[in-house]
Amino acid sequence: MIIGSKILFFENLPSTNTQAAILLKSNELTEGTVIFTNYQLAGRGQMGNIWESEYGKNLLISIVLSPSMIIPSDQFYISMTVSLGISDFLKRYIQVCRIKWPNDIYVNNDKIAGLLIENSIMGNHIENTIAGIGLNINQDIFLSDAPNPVSLKLITGMTFELNICLNQLVSDLDKRYKQLIAGKSDQIKEEYISQLFRLNELHNYRDKNGIFSGRINSVNDYGWLQIERENGRIREYSFKDVEFIL
Ligand code: BTN
Repeated sequence: MIIGSKILFFENLPSTNTQAAILLKSNELTEGTVIFTNYQLAGRGQMGNIWESEYGKNLLISIVLSPSMIIPSDQFYISMTVSLGISDFLKRYIQVCRIKWPNDIYVNNDKIAGLLIENSIMGNHIENTIAGIGLNINQDIFLSDAPNPVSLKLITGMTFELNICLNQLVSDLDKRYKQLIAGKSDQIKEEYISQLFRLNELHNYRDKNGIFSGRINSVNDYGWLQIERENGRIREYSFKDVEFIL
């Protein structure tokens, strides 16, 4: 086991990602260490957003990896790998979940998990990755202005034992990470694409020129989203350059 070889629990933290970065600086972490907390005082989301999570209700973890076999231009493979691990975990309890590009996990039109991946690059390799995961398990009510949060409890009506979920999630992530380091990155990309939210469906998106309709048909190796317009033209978008209209 790589992911989960060590699990460090903290009652509360500013942010598990921040704590992982502090421990990494003092060389206190081995690859695969998971930092887990009941509550974050300053949980960080993508694009400077905060991550809401009620005390003791959800999984708030950061995993420390040293994916030295991944060159920086392939760093999206790490994101795909972690997204698939979360999806594997959810499929233990629900039939369908999707990955909303680049790495939100959705059930129907609602977000159940978010990922904040922070890579430190040294020359031509990735020195460390901190993969922060917020996965909503038992929360019933969300207070922030996030548009569409949901939890496993809201979907299934059941309450879950967090420690069991943590062990299952860690095991599913470990299997996916081993797939990546075994060189099976083509399989990872193929599965990631097959699980994309709105794959091949006609929907509205917004780019710098306004709203348009199109179909997601793939993601390239750099993680850029490919959307085919109704006129058959395909455009590639990097993160932040296109917005889903939900
Ligand atoms: C998003 O905006 O979708 C990403 C959310 C990531 C939240 C997780 S919770 C554990 C880890 N620590 C943080 O501060 N953020 C990530």
